[in-house]
Amino acid sequence: MAKKPENAAQPQYKVEYREIQPYGTLKRLPLALEDNARKQSVDILNQVLADTMTLRDMYKKHHWQMSGATFYQLHLLLDEHYKIQSALVDTIAERIMALGGISIAMPHDVIELTKIPRPPKGREDVPTQLARLLEAHEIVLRECHEGADAADESGDDGTNDLLVSDVIRANEPQVWFIAEHLAETELVRDDR
Ligand SMILES: [Fe+2]
Repeated sequence: MAKKPENAAQPQYKVEYREIQPYGTLKRLPLALEDNARKQSVDILNQVLADTMTLRDMYKKHHWQMSGATFYQLHLLLDEHYKIQSALVDTIAERIMALGGISIAMPHDVIELTKIPRPPKGREDVPTQLARLLEAHEIVLRECHEGADAADESGDDGTNDLLVSDVIRANEPQVWFIAEHLAETELVRDDR
């Protein structure tokens, strides 16, 4: 039905919400990849995505709730790592869409999927904060090593490359930087 001219500028915001691709399904795309290879990669990538989103948010929690003698340095370092994890989230999610799948996006869906243990709402001491980050990194890294092997075997070179070149390569130095803060060091040596 044609709109009346006087109504043409009226935004039609009262719409019936409509889903166009159910979660877990694959669109067909000319990628020269088997459907089961794409399905496997989408599942692997959604798991890595859920855990990367959790790790990203844990970095912000600890950036805000940091304390102690190294507060300033850790406050800044954790925000740097947060930014790198945020960029990874986008890279992983868009790879899932490029494969014809659907990336998870909302916090409810992340909570259902993530394997990283939930930290408390309260503030934790520095060793706990850093140990939690290392635990989360190792969960992501283990998934990436296993996922990269599976993607290699299925012929999905792009997913293998993303897991190795982007996710593993970004996570490994972050583990190094965080772990070094857990070596026992004295701020002042008493040689008297
Ligand atoms: Fe900040």
